[in-house]
Amino acid sequence: MNEMSSFWSGWITFIALLNIFLCVWMLWWCQRKHDDDVPEGESMGHSFDGIEEFNNPLPRWWLGMFYAGIVFALLYLMLYPGLGAYKGALGWTAVNQWEREIQKADNRYDRIFEDYAKVSIEDLSKDPEAVKVGQRLFGNNCALCHGSDAHGAPGFPNLTDTDWLYGGDPETIKKTITFGRNGNMPTMAAAVGDTADIKNVAAHVLSLSGRKGSGDAEAGRAKFALCAACHGQDAKGNKMLGAPNLTDNVWLHGGDEASIIETITNGRSGAMPTFKDKLSEEKIHVLAAYVYSLNK
Ligand code: HEC
Ligand code: HEC
Repeated sequence: MNEMSSFWSGWITFIALLNIFLCVWMLWWCQRKHDDDVPEGESMGHSFDGIEEFNNPLPRWWLGMFYAGIVFALLYLMLYPGLGAYKGALGWTAVNQWEREIQKADNRYDRIFEDYAKVSIEDLSKDPEAVKVGQRLFGNNCALCHGSDAHGAPGFPNLTDTDWLYGGDPETIKKTITFGRNGNMPTMAAAVGDTADIKNVAAHVLSLSGRKGSGDAEAGRAKFALCAACHGQDAKGNKMLGAPNLTDNVWLHGGDEASIIETITNGRSGAMPTFKDKLSEEKIHVLAAYVYSLNK
């Protein structure tokens, strides 16, 4: 919002105060006995439709309410913003009220999360209430990539199976969520050779999960030495690097021949974002318990 110009601020203040002043003046004027010819309580001498006007004073309770209303209005305008650009003595704004309410809610939930943080991830994963809280956090923070059921999608791992890139024990899951992960499979095209060589390596990879490719798997096996540094001699992967097990027929980027050739040719890099700046450690603890519970 643009700052109000001082002219408009002054103008609005003037009109608001003038209105209140006019109310006071009107009350004062009505209370005066201004018709001295007719004594109090007597008829004013005219009637309309059977209603006759008497010279009666305004009822006390009514006057009292009116004056109380005016005092309230003045106090209110002193404490809260209302007079032009004047911010009010309390410094209240809709934004800071909203922030206070959020803070109050956070404090309440923080206590719940603090209690959960005292329980081990393993035990927490058996607490249906905690798992439900974790599931809600998952829906808000993780489902976008891993799916609302955590089954994943191409490039985004399934978190409900027992196949782990980095490890499925409670502490590793927590570490993954806290610090994020970067899986980096470099482009291997130049190192492997021409497209026939790549086809051969792909055929070898396919053979590891009992399948056949169009290349020569035997020839490809020799080239796999290039890959063993990360994926291991036995191709069972390396959890330190997040290099997947290539023998289990569970695929992050696709296990058909074309996808494997694509992976070898152009590389892959999966990025799991870090959450340590976005979620408190206690919330990450509950999330880890939720993820851990998915494997049970
Ligand atoms: C922007 C997308 C994205 C979001 C959001 C995301 N992840 Fe991930 N996550 C990934 C990717 C991609 C990987 C795989 C990283 C790799 O390829 O090395 C991954 C990996 C993981 C792993 C490791 C799996 C394994 O096999 O070791 C866990 C556990 C995990 N995520 C949990 C979560 C949780 C819990 C959240 C929410 C707090 C979350 N992720 C949010 C993209 C995401
Ligand atoms: C520098 C380490 C490194 C080397 C060398 C390497 N890889 Fe990888 N590879 C990885 C990592 C890490 C990933 C997981 C990428 C991700 O998380 O997105 C991966 C992923 C893959 C995948 C995809 C697996 C899936 O589940 O979809 C295949 C296939 C693969 N590598 C095959 C190979 C082959 C064949 C070679 C040798 C020609 C090779 N890699 C060399 C680190 C390596």
